[in-house]
Amino acid sequence: MNHQKILISGAGIAGNALAFWLSKLGHEVTVVERFPGLRTSGLQIDLRGHGIEVLKRMGLESAFRSKAAPEVGVQIVNSSGKRQAYFPANKSGKGSQSFTSDYEIMRGDLCRIMYDATKERVKYIFGISIEHFEEKHDEVEVRFSNGETGRFDILVGADGQGSRTRSMMLGSSPDAVDWFHPLEEYVAYFTIPREMEYGEEYIATGYIASGGRFVLTRRYSPHRVQVYLTGKAVTERLKAIQKGDVYEEKKAFVEVFRGAGWVVDELLESLMETDDFYCETQGFVKLDPWYKGRVVLLGDAAYCPSASTGMGTSSAIVGAYILAGEIGTHCAAVDHQGEPSKDCHVAAFKAYDEKFRPFMNQIQKGVGDPSVFDNIQWGPFTIGAVHWVAWLASCLRIDRLGRLFSDNQIKGWDLPEYESLKSHTETSRDDKVVEGER
Ligand SMILES: Cc1cc2nc3c(=O)[nH]c(=O)nc-3n(C[C@H](O)[C@H](O)[C@H](O)COP(=O)(O)OP(=O)(O)OC[C@H]3O[C@@H](n4cnc5c(N)ncnc54)[C@H](O)[C@@H]3O)c2cc1C
Ligand SMILES: *[C@@H]1O[C@H](CO)[C@@H](O)[C@H](O)[C@H]1NC(C)=O
Ligand SMILES: *[C@@H]1O[C@H](CO)[C@@H](O)[C@H](O)[C@H]1NC(C)=O
Repeated sequence: MNHQKILISGAGIAGNALAFWLSKLGHEVTVVERFPGLRTSGLQIDLRGHGIEVLKRMGLESAFRSKAAPEVGVQIVNSSGKRQAYFPANKSGKGSQSFTSDYEIMRGDLCRIMYDATKERVKYIFGISIEHFEEKHDEVEVRFSNGETGRFDILVGADGQGSRTRSMMLGSSPDAVDWFHPLEEYVAYFTIPREMEYGEEYIATGYIASGGRFVLTRRYSPHRVQVYLTGKAVTERLKAIQKGDVYEEKKAFVEVFRGAGWVVDELLESLMETDDFYCETQGFVKLDPWYKGRVVLLGDAAYCPSASTGMGTSSAIVGAYILAGEIGTHCAAVDHQGEPSKDCHVAAFKAYDEKFRPFMNQIQKGVGDPSVFDNIQWGPFTIGAVHWVAWLASCLRIDRLGRLFSDNQIKGWDLPEYESLKSHTETSRDDKVVEGER
């Protein structure tokens, strides 16, 4: 059997999903993660459309369900906390999904489910990253931050929107620009302690304050809620701050959101104390092709669609399935001497790019274009109008308001079938010898 030595940078959603499939195919997989352990922070994410289908093909649906977030719907309230609109989740698993999909989960739980299903077959190394790589004699030679080196047939960059693998891959080319396009929209994510009140439900609550300040809380446990803050005003304020200076970032959000109405001031008190505050600029990544030589990019590193599409996680999982499927198809072939082809990655990467790009083109369509919302003056009148439209939409059950409610399925695109991934889903692992197992 032709097995490839494959190095994956990043043990996030994309990296773990790819390691899952490649190790099932019997390849020798190593994952390096910069963080000292599995990075399980992050708030609620969801799977949609083909992402759900891939989860099922991975055989992880019941593991997912056992950890699924309990959210039953989303409401919009006004400054007195009175409900203006409500969008219930459609838990039937059929039909179009609203803001709350049938497949909601905390990011850390999904990351761990994939890691747990993979860790016995894959070598994970935490707390290191790739410092340098170079293609030499049909291999990629890699030097790690701990001084060690290694040789691999394929290197996969699954290291997120700010991917170092991407910048190193593009580094020496004349058009070496970074392909991350910031959208100048900062979002703060954190969780706070808040006991569930009698009669309270597991719902998300959105509140639009004056000045285009947007606040969302989502209850995910009887004791805690998630909080999201975003708005143009905070972008201006944050530009003056050193990125990663959490104390200053927190202060900026407090200043901008103070007095916004509803329960916002209470949320801000807890904000200063929370230790999981995380603030990042929204943005998207676009580059063509997604590979160079023996190096290929996956997930946010290759095609981050920006959180506003709600499709980052589904795209990571579908892309991992296709990349693994193509490696399985092209790297299982043997040449006339019965030896594995040294260059199978060429056809595999090309097919991955060709098959998956139409999917991502649809997801990224319009992202980064000027939006009608950019020039709105968010005075009381506009807020009233938004409430009215939302109320109307909820009555009419039109639960797809612009980008907040992403499309369920990509039109005219079918998830490819891979015989190799199918058979490996059913066979037990015991009949395979996997090198690099711990
Ligand atoms: C801590 C965290 C919290 C997040 N929270 C949310 C959220 O609340 N809502 C949301 O919609 N999306 C969130 N995301 C983004 C979301 O996970 C992704 O958009 C999506 O799941 C695609 O996943 P990915 O694997 O491509 O990227 P990511 O999930 O970002 O994973 C990238 C991984 O690579 C690691 N890494 C980065 N640089 C290096 C390096 N140089 N070497 C080795 N490893 C490296 C990171 O530590 C991370 O584990 C979060 C991401 C992270 C890392
Ligand atoms: C909030 O909505 C309620 C009921 O819809 C209304 O009575 C109240 O006046 C509204 N509050 C504000 C500040 O607009
Ligand atoms: C969920 O979707 C299905 C299929 O489209 C539909 O029949 C059902 O009425 C929906 N349920 C809710 C609560 O919207």
